[in-house]
Parts: sequence; structure tokens; C-alpha cells
Amino acid sequence: MSTDKIALVTGYTGESGKALVKELITNNQFKKIILVGRRKVDYTENEYKEKTEQREIDFDQIDNYTEAFRGADVHFCCLGTTRGKSGAEGFRRVDFDYIVGAARLAKQEGCKHFHLVSSQGANENSYFLYPQVKGQAEAALTKMSFPRLSIYRPAMLMVDRVEHRLMERIAHSIIGHTVQRIAPEWITTPVQILARAMCFNSFTKDRPSVEIIDNHAIFRLAEQQPNPSTGQTKATNEL
Ligand SMILES: NC(=O)c1ccc[n+]([C@@H]2O[C@H](COP(=O)([O-])OP(=O)(O)OC[C@H]3O[C@@H](n4cnc5c(N)ncnc54)[C@H](OP(=O)(O)O)[C@@H]3O)[C@@H](O)[C@H]2O)c1
Repeated sequence: MSTDKIALVTGYTGESGKALVKELITNNQFKKIILVGRRKVDYTENEYKEKTEQREIDFDQIDNYTEAFRGADVHFCCLGTTRGKSGAEGFRRVDFDYIVGAARLAKQEGCKHFHLVSSQGANENSYFLYPQVKGQAEAALTKMSFPRLSIYRPAMLMVDRVEHRLMERIAHSIIGHTVQRIAPEWITTPVQILARAMCFNSFTKDRPSVEIIDNHAIFRLAEQQPNPSTGQTKATNEL
């Protein structure tokens, strides 16, 4: 059942972003889904064309794009890059500057609930770049005092990635299906599980105004997301 709420997704062309948009469309609780990114996607499916509105921006000039962030009640941020792809400076620019910039404009434009895909191990005091930047972004957003802020800390994202990432492929092949079958919540997070958790959590009440959701909690939230056609909740091991 659709509500009057409008969602906005940054990072919607990435793997977790794509899974999230699909879940939001299938779930059909948001009236509209605004998609903000550095490039547009040519959607062929009618439900995508009807339900989404794409807004293209230059994240380096984000303050010139205030209007792109207008009109959304809920923001889902799936932005991110890797040091391998963008270098240390580029990684900090996307995973801190762009995320904090998007959150600042979201708050300014009246967003009531901000969801951030961060990472397991995020720690602003870490010696290592990745957890440090992730922790710094979390800390910066926490200081913005959103009415609600939900920070997700998934483990290794399980996805058939379009882009070639050697280290990720090696890790996936080592972990393979065995760990996923025996103990899926240890070190992996299928992107569909993350998407379900985020979608379900955006309609939950009585949760803390700032919450950090670890990998186990992501799985628990995902289990509660009902199947739109049957109304039944899905077991996460169905995947
Ligand atoms: N991979 C993992 O195992 C893992 C584990 C835990 C947490 N995480 C975190 O989860 C989040 C989502 O990960 P993911 O694997 O879904 O990401 P992804 O597939 O790499 O997608 C990243 C998104 O950010 C956008 N982006 C990247 N660089 C940009 C730039 N310079 N300017 C504008 N947009 C840019 C991409 O746009 P384009 O499509 O245009 O490039 C894409 O929409 C990230 O913050 C990541 O650190 C990942």
C-alpha cells in the first residue's frame, strides 16, 4: 500500500543502490523515488519509469544542486568507492565529502530520516584509512541531528558485481557458498538483505533517533519485511 512519503536515493547506480531501488519499487510503499547521481540510467521497465525521477548532479559542486535534494522525506545513501578505484584522496572525497555534502543538503531540505550504508568495522579512530573514513562520515552525520539517522554496517557485500574487482572476487571465491550456507551472518551481507532491511526500517516506529545497525541486526530487520504479493515475511535463508 502506497503512502504519501517520498524517498531519495544517492548511489543508486551501485550494487547496493540498485538492489535498494528494486526493493523500494516492489514494496510500493513510497509514492515516488527520487534518484540523485552523477549519471542517468536508461530504464526500460515501466514501473521504474513511472515511480522514479532521476536528477543528475556534479558532487564536486554539490552546493549548486540544492534543488536536487528537495521534496524527499527519507534519504537512502549508498554512495561509496574504493581506494583501489579512486586512490586514497578520491576515496576520502566520495566516502566522506560527498556523503556529508549530500546529508547536509538533505537536512537543509527537510529530510526526516537519513539512512547511511557504512561498513562493518567503521571507526573514526582507526589507523587504517577505510574504517577511519567510514567512522568519520558516521560521526559527522550524527552531529547533524536528523530526526532519525540509521547507520548500517554490513559485512562483505555479496553481489554479482558488473564492475571487475579482483580482491572482492578472490574473497568471494574463498568464502564461496560454504560460509553463506553455514553462517551467513558472520562475514557476508547479500545486497538484497541489506535492501530489505533498509526498506523495512524506513516504516518502523519506536526506534532510537540515532541507531547503528550491525550485520546481525540487518538480517533481523530484513526478515520482517513482508513480501508485497503474499504479505508473508521472507526467511533470509531463502536467498
Ligand atoms: N563492497 C563491500 O563488500 C562493502 C562492504 C561493506 C560496506 N560497503 C559500503 O557500502 C556502500 C555501497 O557499496 P556498493 O558496493 O554498493 O558500491 P558501488 O557498487 O561501488 O556503488 C557506489 C555508488 O557511488 C557512486 N559513486 C562512486 N564514485 C562516485 C563519484 N566520484 N561521483 C559520484 N558518484 C560516485 C557510484 O556511481 P557510478 O555508478 O556512477 O560509479 C555508485 O552509484 C559503500 O559505501 C561501501 O563502502 C561495501
